[in-house]
Parts: sequence; C-alpha cells; structure tokens
Amino acid sequence: MNTILLEVNPQKPEAAKIRLAAEFIRKGGLVAFPTETVYGLGADALNSKAVLALFKAKKRPLDNPPIVHVENVSDVYKLAREVSAEAELLMKQFWPGPLTLVLERSKLVPEVTVAGLDTVAVRMPNNKIALALIRESRCPIAAPSANLAGKPSPTTAKHVFDDLNGRIDAVLDGGSTRIGVESTVLDLSLSPPQVLRPGGISFETLKKTLRDVRLHPFAVAEKAVAVSEARSPGMKHKHYAPNAKLILVEGSVPAVVRKIQELIDSCNTKGMGVGVLSTDETASKYTAGKVKSLGSRFNLDTIASNLFRSLREFDDENVDIILAEGLPEEGIGLAVMNRLRKASGYSIVKAE
Ligand code: TXA
Ligand code: MG
Repeated sequence: MNTILLEVNPQKPEAAKIRLAAEFIRKGGLVAFPTETVYGLGADALNSKAVLALFKAKKRPLDNPPIVHVENVSDVYKLAREVSAEAELLMKQFWPGPLTLVLERSKLVPEVTVAGLDTVAVRMPNNKIALALIRESRCPIAAPSANLAGKPSPTTAKHVFDDLNGRIDAVLDGGSTRIGVESTVLDLSLSPPQVLRPGGISFETLKKTLRDVRLHPFAVAEKAVAVSEARSPGMKHKHYAPNAKLILVEGSVPAVVRKIQELIDSCNTKGMGVGVLSTDETASKYTAGKVKSLGSRFNLDTIASNLFRSLREFDDENVDIILAEGLPEEGIGLAVMNRLRKASGYSIVKAE
C-alpha cells in the first residue's frame, strides 16, 4: 500500500486535502491525523471491517478498544445508551479537549470498535484538522494513537510515517502536537467516576468539576496490572516502550542524580550506550552518556510535550539503555510519570 503524505495548514485546513482524506475514511480506509494530544490513526467507527483493518495496521491486540472521536455532541447521544447530567457538564466544560469519557454504549456501535465491552470511550479533539476530517467523513472516527502497538505515541507526522508507512492510506501532517501525552480517560460508567488513564486534563482540574472522582489505582502505574483487575484494557498491555531498555529512577532530585550517575558508570564499564532523560536543572550534572533535557521541572507542560519525541530520538541514536529521572506527579506530571513507568516495564529504582 502506498501511504500518501498531505501537509495541511493547522489554522485553516485546505478543503481539498480534507476531502481526499475523508474519501479514504468513507471507503473504509485508514488516515492518520493530528489532535491536540498525539496523532491518531482513524477509521470509520461504525464500519467493523475498517476498524478491524485499523487493529491490523497497528498490530494492536483486539481486546484493546480505540477511542471514538466526534465532531459534535449530538453524536454522543447516538453512541451512548444514556448521557448523564454529569457527562453533559463535562462535555460542556472540557470539549473540545483532552478528556475521554467512558459511557455505556448503544447498539449502533459495532462489537469490534469496543472490543466486546458494554461501554464506549468518546472524545471531541481540540484540533481543526481532526474536526474537519470527522465532519467531512460524516461518521464518528475510531482512532487510537497512530503508532505501532507498544511504541511511544507519535507527536509528529514523521513519527507516524516511521511506524506505519505502507500500512495505511494517508497521513495528514499538521506539525507537532501541542500537549504531547494522550487524553485523560474518565470512566463514567462507574460510581463514583474513575480516571483510568491520566492525561491532558489533570486530576486536580477534574476534582474542581466533579463532586466525587477517584484515581483508579492502576492509573498511577506503580506496578504491573493483574490482567483480571484491568478496568481499561490498555492497562495490561505493553506501552510506550522505546527499543532501548528504560530504567526510571525515582526519589529526591539529588538522590536521583547520584543514582543515575552510578548507573551510567556501571553501564560504561559494560560498554553499553547510555541515554539520560533529564531536566534543565540536572542535565549538566552527568559526566557521560547522551543527555537530553525534557525541559524545566517547573514547567511540566513542556516536559509532557517533549516526552515521546525524546524517547524516539534515543532509538534513532541507538542507545542500549535509557535512564530517566522521576518527575513531580502534580498536574500533567501524573500523566508523564504514568507513561514513564509503563515505558520502563516497571523497571523502577527508588533512589535514597
Ligand atoms: O489523546 C488520545 O486519547 C489519543 C488521540 C489520538 O485522541 N488517542 C489514544 O488512543 O490515546 P489509544 O487507543 O492509544 O488509547 C485509548 C485508551 C486505551 O487505554 C484503551 O484501553 C482505553 O482508552 N479505552 C478505550 N475504550 C475503553 C472502554 N470502553 N473502557 C475503558 N477503557 C477504554
Ligand atoms: Mg496508544
């Protein structure tokens, strides 16, 4: 399959390019597109065959359903069996934006789109290209992140191409995505609602809107999830992993720096190529290894937006091992730590 790359103006998406991409979606094809979080790989959510092809292209396990993206709220009433006042409030407050709502699904949604679950995950992305594509396709679009399963999510069209060239119909290139980590997944089919995956809308922000909301214990991702306990199928699969082995070092900043330097030294004696994922405040403290800074510890938004790109860069530089500093878990920092812990396959070192 020949994958077409279409450069699109993110402020004023060219109608002809959107039409061409929508044509693929309507015929059951696959189109990658930018959202405000990461790039998604889209298919007609109501076409079982198209969604099955989507799983195949990504090599995604069939038990892990994608998020269904809508362009207007009225579609949610068709996809969900019931829309509570709470759901309406959240949509009003946070859409378009990086909040995914898990709702009981209607019969309209094919089994494969929800991996056989009785719920559906929906969101309205805050990106003009994404919204134009959904509108022009005239259907809700099922879209997981546009990476090969298990890899870090793509934040540029090039990342999508590196993973999926020849496996999908088209990529809409709208530049780098703004937020850099995926949406927050909030399960409203549970009472009280639970955050299954921390993301672009912080837990603190949700607590201001909802009377009672919990963080699912596995959303923090401190350890591997027992398959029987996984509420969100995505919790149990390998995720965000670069080719290199990643070790996450958590603790106070001086202890983390000391521990990472120790690990660098021991890797050097073994002749391993080392990458360090650091911050502006600490980058100059390491005496060896390829050191990258994600940004200042006091600007977690910047850190989130650089995370997946940096992991992919280390792979291009062929390092054998990545040593990553733990970060504060407030705001979007919780999403960053969730991704790092999963990327490490729970190889977490507590520095003292
Ligand atoms: O920001 C995002 O959410 C991006 C962009 C493209 O919108 N999409 C994304 O999709 O991250 P994906 O498929 O990589 O992650 C979807 C997550 C998975 O963890 C999946 O298990 C969970 O949402 N999910 C989907 N449907 C669900 C459901 N019915 N119940 C619980 N979790 C669900
Ligand atoms: Mg994903």
